[in-house]
Order: sequence, then C-alpha cells, then structure tokens
Amino acid sequence: MTERLTQLRAEFTAELAAAVTEADANALRDRWVGRKAGLITAEMKTLGKLSPEERKTAGAQLNELKTEVESGIDDLLNRFAAEREAAQLIAERIDVTLPGRRIAAGHLHPITLLRHRIEDIFVSMGYAIEDDREIETTFYNFTSLNIPDNHPARSPQDTFYLVGENESTLSLRSQTSTMQIHAMQKRRPPLRVAAPGRVFRRDTPDATHNPMFYQVEGLLVDKGITLGDLKGTVEEFVRRLFGPDTKTRFRPSYFPFVEPGAEIDYTCFKCHGDGCRVCKQSGWIEMGGSGMVHPNVLRGVNIDPEIYSGFAFGLGLDRLCALMYGLDDIRLLYENDVRFLEQFS
Ligand code: DAH
Repeated sequence: MTERLTQLRAEFTAELAAAVTEADANALRDRWVGRKAGLITAEMKTLGKLSPEERKTAGAQLNELKTEVESGIDDLLNRFAAEREAAQLIAERIDVTLPGRRIAAGHLHPITLLRHRIEDIFVSMGYAIEDDREIETTFYNFTSLNIPDNHPARSPQDTFYLVGENESTLSLRSQTSTMQIHAMQKRRPPLRVAAPGRVFRRDTPDATHNPMFYQVEGLLVDKGITLGDLKGTVEEFVRRLFGPDTKTRFRPSYFPFVEPGAEIDYTCFKCHGDGCRVCKQSGWIEMGGSGMVHPNVLRGVNIDPEIYSGFAFGLGLDRLCALMYGLDDIRLLYENDVRFLEQFS
C-alpha cells in the first residue's frame, strides 16, 4: 500500500504541475477525489479487503494523501482566482494622477462685472438700486426732464420711436435719466437712487458707438443739497472706482434737466494724469454728465424746489469698460464672440 501511495502521490504532483487553467484544476478534483470515480475514493473502497491492522495505517496514509490532494487543488484554484483578479485590476486601471478635465463654467460679461462694481459703490454710499423700464413715453424720456419740444434728441433721427401719439408716444429710452422721474414719483425726499441700464440711440455703429449701450444714473434729493455735495459725491465715487489718488474736474456744460450742469472728467486710471494712450495724452478721461436737478423737474413731480434740492449724474459703461480692458472697439462687447468673452472668465 505504501508503494502504491508513493506512486499515486508522484502522479498527482505531476498532474497538478501540468494544470494551467481553472478547468484543469476542477477536472483534477473530479479525477482524484470525486465522489463517484475519484482515484482516492476508489482506493478507499479497497481498504475493506485489508486486515484491521493494515487498514488502520493504510487508512491514515490514504486520508493524508486525500488532504494533500484537496489542499493542492484548493491552492491552485486560489492562485488562479488571484491572478484573474490582478489581471482585471490592471485592465480596469484608472490613473488617478491624470489631471482632471476642466468643466467649462459660464461667467459674467465684462459690462456686468463693471456694473456690479459700480452698484456696490452706490450701495456703500447709501443708494438704492433700481431696475427701470427700457420702453418709455415721450413724457418720461423728454418732457418731464425739461427737454424742450425742439430739442434734437427728440428727433426720430436720434430716438427709436415705437407707437403712439404726443406725450404717450413710446420709444426706446435714450438715457437712464428717465429713472429720475420714476424715482421721485415713487418716493418722497430724502432719496438716493441709482439705476444702471440699457439705452438706445440711432447711432451708426463704429469703434466708439453702438445703437444700444449702458449707462448708470445716480440721483439724490434732500433739503439743503448743494453743488458741493455733488462734487464731493462724485469725487468719492470716482476714488472708490479707480483708486484713492484719482482726481476729478468739472467742466460747465448744458443738460436741460439740471442747472447748473457740468461734465465730469477724472484723471486717467492708467497714467494717473501724465498722459498716455488710454487718455489720448490728455491725462483726463470723460466720465459723464452731472448737475443740480432743475427746479422745473422737481416741480413736475410735486417736489417744492424752494424746500428741496438735489443732484444727478450719469455715466456710460461701455467706453469705460473698453478703456479698462484695453479694447479698441466697443462692438466686441455686444457680439457675443465666445473667444473674446472667455478672456474674462
Ligand atoms: N443723460 C445724459 C446723457 O445721456 C447724461 C447726464 C447728464 C445725466 C447730466 C445726468 C446729468 O444725471 O445730471 O448724455
């Protein structure tokens, strides 16, 4: 029996070494320890023929061999399973060190960025921000702002008229100053309101003109407001927008809804007044118009100019935006060319 076992063990060892697939290993199990036709199972059955003495030792040896066979096959199957798993891990490998893919997120338009900055300044100075209508009657666009009947701004060559007659004719507003009237009709003084928005004029588009552009209007009305308040406010506004060293100058000018009226210039944010390309060597940049609210305008909204006074100022955002970002054509701001807009993300 011992000899036979030695032979069986050698045979099994050789067959185990030759098994290269899981199917080979499973076949080995059937062949050696299968319940019905396994070689060792068959050998077990012969034990009955032996004497009790011999049976005891032979039985023990046979069991030992059986355990060896079973654990040999188990080890092999475990090895195959481990190899399969390792191969799968390699096949499905993800390189976590690769840089991620950038998700293209939207961002705000440069005009909107500038508008937000300006709104923040107004808010920090105690102004309410109003969003006003873009379609206005002739009354709000011109008459209530003391703009005379024969003023060229009223001409259809300047203003986009829509429908209607006389004072209720609708047009696309040509200035955010229309907000002044709405604000004073809605609230009583003291009031501080700022309104950013789009305005429309029949201009031929070129590098510095567009039929649609953006303005911001500020209005303050209270008792005892003077030109000094206007100057102080504008100076502070300009310093907050362009930096503490920025200087302001007022040039007398005429706007029908203010008296006196002035145009505002500020020292160039690029060269600080020395003269450069941005300010066309003058050291100054035009910001917009301003003035003390005309008594006729106050009377029109039932505010007594003997008791109250106020100031207003308005500035254009488009040219300012172009200067700040070094654009040589404001039309870039309206074309929605993604290659241009992406520079501001
Ligand atoms: N509305 C004027 C324009 O579009 C700008 C302006 C001038 C606004 C004087 C004002 C002002 O508030 O007081 O040209």
